[in-house]
Amino acid sequence: MDFKGRRPLIIAFLSEFVAAGVTVGAVQVYFSLFGNDMPLMFKLVIAGAVAGGVAYGLRATIVWCVFLALLPSFLVGALNLQLPIWVPLLGLAFLILIMRNSFSERVPLYLSNHKTLNLICGLVPKDAPVAMIDLGCGFAAVPIALARHNRHPDSQFVGVENAPLPYLVARIQAWRAGDPRIQIRWQSLWAIDLGVYDLVYAFLSPHPMPRLFEKAQKEMRSGAQFISNSFSVPNHPPDQTIPIGVGRATELLIWTMTVQEHIPSDRHA
Ligand SMILES: C[S@@+](CC[C@H](N)C(=O)[O-])C[C@H]1O[C@@H](n2cnc3c(N)ncnc32)[C@H](O)[C@@H]1O
Repeated sequence: MDFKGRRPLIIAFLSEFVAAGVTVGAVQVYFSLFGNDMPLMFKLVIAGAVAGGVAYGLRATIVWCVFLALLPSFLVGALNLQLPIWVPLLGLAFLILIMRNSFSERVPLYLSNHKTLNLICGLVPKDAPVAMIDLGCGFAAVPIALARHNRHPDSQFVGVENAPLPYLVARIQAWRAGDPRIQIRWQSLWAIDLGVYDLVYAFLSPHPMPRLFEKAQKEMRSGAQFISNSFSVPNHPPDQTIPIGVGRATELLIWTMTVQEHIPSDRHA
């Protein structure tokens, strides 16, 4: 049975189950020591800490750990305030609409900053045609910035995104930019043929990088550039790194694909 897609739900079930058991045990101990019921605040802290800790131990993403740690408080709060049960469920649904890939791909949503956009623009000619793609484009800041920088009519600036709310925002942003060279697609980045792009940009997380780099090596053509914001690929040092130098100590890691690395896709059929 394939548990991969259901892993976050299995982790949620296990962590809340263990949290409930530990909290019940702690309440018994408290009662035997002090002869009265444990204050609600203590129960919520214990349940939250255990749920978050178990989820962390099972290597859930940080967002999911935090959510599971807060879930007992949300539920008790909703019950105490006599809010209907759909209120915390609505919160969960909203989180999934924004952070879907945090659960399934271990890639949360955070956005490239202005300094990064300027640095990427500096890597792209202003007047020659370029085909670029942002794998997991968030709010489409990267394709839009590059489209403003490069004015060639044959250029293409593509963003793919499959988390509902970021996709919607990206579509609106692209529409507002009013540039037909910008395309935002509802698609998984794993379904994209990277062979048609001169520049492939990814700002994801450590988790997908080995698989993504393997895909890039198979599909990208010689001379095309693969740029990762912040996340390296084990055993494949980049050809160039550019420090971003604001906020966290991040950098752009750049690989220029070579003939040896490029394996035409028909050989893989
Ligand atoms: C860290 S954000 C980067 C956003 C944007 N590229 C930027 O630099 O501002 C990563 C994005 O990748 C998206 N993502 C993760 N896995 C994806 C997948 N398999 N297919 C499409 N998008 C994905 C997430 O939903 C998220 O919006």
